[in-house]
Amino acid sequence: MEFDPRQDYHRYMWAPYTQMGDLAEEEPIVAVDGDGATIVDSLGREFIDGHAALWLANAGFGRTEIVEAAAEQMHQLSWFPSFGGMSNDVAVRLAKRLVEMTEPEGMARAFFSSGGSEAVETALKMARQYWKLKGNDRKFKIISRRKAYHGVTFGALSATGVSPNRRLFEPLVPGFRHIEPPYCYRCPYGLEHPGCQLACAEELARTIAFESPDTVAAFIAEPVMGAGGVIVPPDGYWQRVAEICETHDVLLIADEVITGFGRTGEMFGVRHWDVRPDIMVFAKGLTSGYLPLGATLAKEEIFQVCLGRWGEGREFRHGTTYSGHPAASAAALENIRIIEEEGLVDRARELGEYLMRGLSDLEDLPHVGNVDGLGLMARVELVKDKDTREPFPASDLVGLHVNREMLKRGVIMRPLGDVMTLSPPLVISEGELDSILESLRDVLAAL
Ligand SMILES: Cc1ncc(COP(=O)(O)O)c(C=O)c1O
Repeated sequence: MEFDPRQDYHRYMWAPYTQMGDLAEEEPIVAVDGDGATIVDSLGREFIDGHAALWLANAGFGRTEIVEAAAEQMHQLSWFPSFGGMSNDVAVRLAKRLVEMTEPEGMARAFFSSGGSEAVETALKMARQYWKLKGNDRKFKIISRRKAYHGVTFGALSATGVSPNRRLFEPLVPGFRHIEPPYCYRCPYGLEHPGCQLACAEELARTIAFESPDTVAAFIAEPVMGAGGVIVPPDGYWQRVAEICETHDVLLIADEVITGFGRTGEMFGVRHWDVRPDIMVFAKGLTSGYLPLGATLAKEEIFQVCLGRWGEGREFRHGTTYSGHPAASAAALENIRIIEEEGLVDRARELGEYLMRGLSDLEDLPHVGNVDGLGLMARVELVKDKDTREPFPASDLVGLHVNREMLKRGVIMRPLGDVMTLSPPLVISEGELDSILESLRDVLAAL
């Protein structure tokens, strides 16, 4: 039978995070081509990808340089592992590059995996092993935040704070606790910044005290929450959180899977607040999606605690087959070169300001409750009533409706509930941002 991408999608795929039963009447977007910030699907439809294909095509589509770097590497050496005293030259080169790039944060070692969930899993295990080897067997709890997204593997999912993602897979891993996020538009305490005195950050201190500091291994958080609906923390939040972790000897893990590599207008998200985490987690923008890769960076002290001799059981007994894949490492090195040499971090900052000005203009529309963002990561929260901030009934699926209308106009966004999010490639043009903004105004005005 002849291959038909659309029909065969319906017939054979079981797609991630997708209600396949609701797709029957819809045309799936089966991409066949991409260039810059634009993709083309199997029906020849063109879309501006306002979401950089899941927050990550930072360098844009169709970057021949990255493709060639990966291909050359595969011709040279397609694959070689990094287990037990072996490795390959590109993985080593990438480790050096990442450690040098994160020198201001004090990172000393890079551990590779195949994506974000695995990189988070690695960070959580590093934290638990670190405290165990230091003789503190009880210090294993991990604190994270409601609305956080850290991935799908059991550890990463246990840290995740998105209830619908968790429910059907319970029971999850023991020892995880969740505090409220810094979601000022819907402050869980009904307070307002700065009068709130950062009650959400203080909850970390209270939770550590409640659990007892000698039982808490780490606090993990995204510098700017992504899948939770692009939640940018208020000034002072990250500084306070870092201070609390330091006071109570709790490791601070920055999940930079989305925010890393320029997305927010700094190379890494924590740089907005001068925070030095103990562990940093990368994926997505590390290769701009050209090949799957995750990296977990740790400061020297964490690495040192795991040193010893074979037989003592101190080594980090963790690693997936493809840790340090040469082709993915080559793609990452070339992607990083592009991000640096083309000034994409500054571009994200400048275009981010441009985008925010455009989005702010939408605030006059009746159902636009909140607009916010940092760099090229932005949110538009839709509400039924602007004055009371009353949401639409969940059953109205307003975000999905807006998304469908945007797709009809050739724009890919991402609805997270009724929060429409944008996270375009950092190479997007002002003209393309204007098209997104115009379509969004049309669709929201008709809501
Ligand atoms: C902040 C964050 N951490 C971890 C992950 C998991 O990454 P992956 O989907 O590559 O496993 C994601 C994915 O969106 C993420 O946004």
